[in-house]
Amino acid sequence: MKMISAAVSFLRPAATAAVLVFFPLLLIGWAEQAASHPVDRSLSEPLRNPETYQAVQDISKHAQGLQTEEDSSFRLMPRVNTDQDHMNICCLHANILDFYMNNILKTRRDHVHPNMTRLKVDMNRVSEDLQSQGCNVTHYQDHHHAVEFRRKLARLAPEQGFNKAVGEIDILFMYLQDFCVVRRNATEN
Ligand SMILES: *[C@@H]1O[C@H](CO)[C@@H](O)[C@H](O)[C@H]1NC(C)=O
Ligand SMILES: *[C@@H]1O[C@H](CO)[C@@H](O)[C@H](O)[C@H]1NC(C)=O
Ligand SMILES: *[C@@H]1O[C@H](CO)[C@@H](O)[C@H](O)[C@H]1NC(C)=O
Repeated sequence: MKMISAAVSFLRPAATAAVLVFFPLLLIGWAEQAASHPVDRSLSEPLRNPETYQAVQDISKHAQGLQTEEDSSFRLMPRVNTDQDHMNICCLHANILDFYMNNILKTRRDHVHPNMTRLKVDMNRVSEDLQSQGCNVTHYQDHHHAVEFRRKLARLAPEQGFNKAVGEIDILFMYLQDFCVVRRNATEN
């Protein structure tokens, strides 16, 4: 930091002049980039809903708070290789979401958290949207990431597994948000 501020104060007169000259050019550049840059459209509305996002964050934090220290030292959800086709990553996580709907969220009554009902309704909607948008959930059943997730979960005691999985619902939601999108040209909107 010291070196940077020294360099900045040394460069300041020249830099100020440069900013005055280049700032308008930068603005023009940004405007052009914004016009040609593709815009992402989510495949499911709740993935862009701030209230759904908040419910996901609250519920996962609450479940993380019920975990032991040892439980927080590992994760169930495999890290994705982002080099592959985004629709593949999306549909893999649609498979994991389907598993959550049928095996994790369904087993619990809604009173575990005041926002659980909302979360279930919204995530169910996401699951249906992704399947109607072309995710074949069965096709990803044997994907090594889906298998790894289920295998790690099966090793935990039921209560521990439930808290661990619900504690990671924020990670699942993040992958769905990031990869279940179609890119669209801004100029076409
Ligand atoms: C969570 O539940 C509380 C209590 O019912 C409610 O006031 C709040 O708006 C809910 N939050 C979200 C994000 O749904
Ligand atoms: C979905 O995937 C399964 C397994 O790969 C395949 O057998 C089935 O035909 C697929 N369904 C559709 C509608 O493509
Ligand atoms: C966006 O525009 C480019 C260039 O005009 C075109 O090749 C591409 O197909 C467009 N993408 C979509 C999703 O329409």
